[in-house]
Amino acid sequence: MPCTSCHDPHNEFVDPVENRFLLKNNSASAICTTSHDLKGGTGANLWSWSGAEGVPSSHKTGANVYSDQTNDGIAWLGSHTGYTTTATNACAACHRPHTAHDAAELLKGETDRVCFQCHDGNPLTQLADVKSEFKRKMYVHPSIGPQASHDPVEAPDNILTRHATCDDCHNSHAARADLTTPVPPQLSSALLGVSGIAADGSPRDPRRGGTGALYEDEICFKCPSYNPNKPQLPGYLSYGPLPFRVVLSMNLVDAFASPVSWHPVTRPRALSSGAGGAVPSLLTTPLDSSGAPIPSRTLNAAAQISCTDCHGNDTGRQLGGSFAGSLGPHGSNVSHILERGYFLETSSGTAGQTPDIPYSSSNYALCFKCHSEDSLKADQSFKFHWEHMQRVACSTCHDPHGIPNGTALNNGSLINFDQNIVARNSLAVGPAWSDLTPGAGSAVFHGSCSLRCHGVDHDNRSY
Ligand code: HEC
Ligand code: HEC
Ligand code: HEC
Ligand code: HEC
Ligand code: HEC
Ligand code: HEC
Ligand code: HEC
Repeated sequence: MPCTSCHDPHNEFVDPVENRFLLKNNSASAICTTSHDLKGGTGANLWSWSGAEGVPSSHKTGANVYSDQTNDGIAWLGSHTGYTTTATNACAACHRPHTAHDAAELLKGETDRVCFQCHDGNPLTQLADVKSEFKRKMYVHPSIGPQASHDPVEAPDNILTRHATCDDCHNSHAARADLTTPVPPQLSSALLGVSGIAADGSPRDPRRGGTGALYEDEICFKCPSYNPNKPQLPGYLSYGPLPFRVVLSMNLVDAFASPVSWHPVTRPRALSSGAGGAVPSLLTTPLDSSGAPIPSRTLNAAAQISCTDCHGNDTGRQLGGSFAGSLGPHGSNVSHILERGYFLETSSGTAGQTPDIPYSSSNYALCFKCHSEDSLKADQSFKFHWEHMQRVACSTCHDPHGIPNGTALNNGSLINFDQNIVARNSLAVGPAWSDLTPGAGSAVFHGSCSLRCHGVDHDNRSY
């Protein structure tokens, strides 16, 4: 590429702001867009930088200030063009044709630093503060600081280095801020144009002729599924206590594809819900942290929920009430980057002997977003729910995702005991629950348990 593709050595001032002998007025990166129109997606997920197809990215249209002051304290970041908004800097907000600090993609710096020029809550840019979620929360996706970075050519089903950087989940050329909240499983417009793994395990790989991820969970499945670098026991314990389940799987594609019991993330659960149904506790709409219904969402047998219904910012504005933080599963002070309180019992050293834990609604706020606490306390399904809830965490009995290769007899209702807490009984049987009214969607609740838990022996104890 000769210098003269972009420069005119005889005229310094064609671009009135940058000068620099440019070939044309380079406002909004007109030189770059002469030969690049980045685009992708299909249907509702169609996107293109120019807006010729789909809707253009907020990074093309944002009138927000971006100047030499918005550099997040790093001298060589911030606007280097003289233009003073996101839209007029365009590609040059993140890329640099010469002297790029991160040469591989001509980026102005490491990805997180490039993003935090603007997404750090500074008063000039006036954008939500994403940076401090990563910096201050106890449990975070590993997206900041020196570490392996996303490679745009990596195949989503064959990711060779362990990483979760901004561009694993966001495509800067497509992302936009829409005011409408997506209804699961639909993608948020913040997540457009990213690769993924479909619920059947096949890759969604735009670099190899496929579409990008169509649904939110497909982006998440790039890691905890077939990826050889997926979370592993016990190395993953820095994310908080991790239950050691009877049916153990770190592959969440398999878990949500369960033939027996699953939360409706990849497909509806289709049980009869509400009073008199198989899931009597199900509310008609999810509730925000102040107990108000979340707009445009309903819960019923046909409804789907998203990974980010449970995994998200524990001080994000999606919680309603007085919360005002940024959206996204970037970081949380609740273990496993959960959006609300969820108490997990920790191993006391001897399974079967863990001490009782006092009941508090806030311990299980996550479940009460969608399941009625009153219904569970009134034992509308499991006859001894309330008795157990006052001593044992939900997680000790229930798996939150789905049970791969489980059986209808032992793993209905997401039952998958945590063997750190629950042991075999004194006859060396279990730990096991048996459904005495098996069959999908039964609203008759009878079962029996063989196990030892919290010092209490159960020998085929039934209800
Ligand atoms: C792909 C387009 C492109 C090509 C090819 C290109 N330049 Fe540039 N150059 C730019 C742009 C755009 C700027 C304005 C600064 C910016 O946006 O980063 C620039 C700025 C410069 C500057 C000023 C640097 C500064 O930091 O102020 C010099 C000097 C320069 N180019 C020289 C060259 C030479 C010499 C060549 C050929 C070897 C060349 N350029 C090829 C696009 C290009
Ligand atoms: C908000 C930041 C941002 C803006 C604005 C931006 N980019 Fe990028 N661009 C990135 C990042 C980050 C990557 C690396 C993506 C990855 O690793 O998947 C990238 C990668 C690329 C690549 C390599 C992509 C690949 O798949 O190999 C090209 C080409 C590119 N950008 C062109 C552009 C052009 C042209 C513009 C303006 C029309 C632009 N970018 C605007 C952040 C940005
Ligand atoms: C030059 C400033 C700037 C930089 C640098 C920048 N962004 Fe943005 N970004 C914006 C603006 C402005 C919006 C639109 C926000 C709005 O309208 O509420 C936006 C919107 C977004 C959105 C859509 C969701 C939303 O509501 O904010 C995502 C996702 C996003 N940016 C990710 C990134 C990532 C990832 C990077 C780094 C690769 C990055 N941005 C770098 C300015 C920037
Ligand atoms: C001691 C084990 C145990 C604990 C602890 C427990 N459950 Fe259950 N739960 C069960 C069993 C067993 C069933 C299935 C009953 C049946 O089908 O016979 C069940 C069923 C359910 C159901 C489906 C039926 C309904 O009521 O809608 C939900 C939802 C549920 N539990 C939520 C919770 C929540 C939330 C907690 C914690 C606050 C919790 N459970 C604590 C054992 C437990
Ligand atoms: C109903 C709430 C809920 C939904 C929906 C949910 N999770 Fe979780 N997730 C949890 C809870 C609670 C834990 C903590 C561990 C436990 O209780 O077993 C967890 C743990 C995890 C972990 C760490 C340990 C493990 O089990 O692998 C990963 C990774 C994870 N979730 C990813 C996902 C992904 C990806 C999705 C969507 C495809 C998702 N989750 C959907 C509640 C949920
Ligand atoms: C594991 C996936 C993942 C990673 C890694 C990730 N994000 Fe996000 N991000 C999301 C999701 C999901 C949302 C929420 C989208 C929604 O609910 O609209 C989000 C939201 C955002 C938003 C909009 C915030 C708001 O309040 O509107 C910005 C900006 C953003 N992310 C930037 C970043 C930056 C910068 C990084 C890297 C430092 C990053 N993200 C890393 C998944 C991710
Ligand atoms: C975002 C909403 C949401 C959250 C949060 C949520 N659930 Fe559910 N849950 C559902 C829906 C929807 C169903 C399926 C209802 C149907 O098919 O009628 C369901 C079903 C269930 C079932 C029955 C599943 C089966 O296969 O029989 C159990 C048990 C359950 N949830 C427990 C929990 C526990 C424990 C938590 C807290 C970790 C929780 N839920 C959090 C929405 C939610």
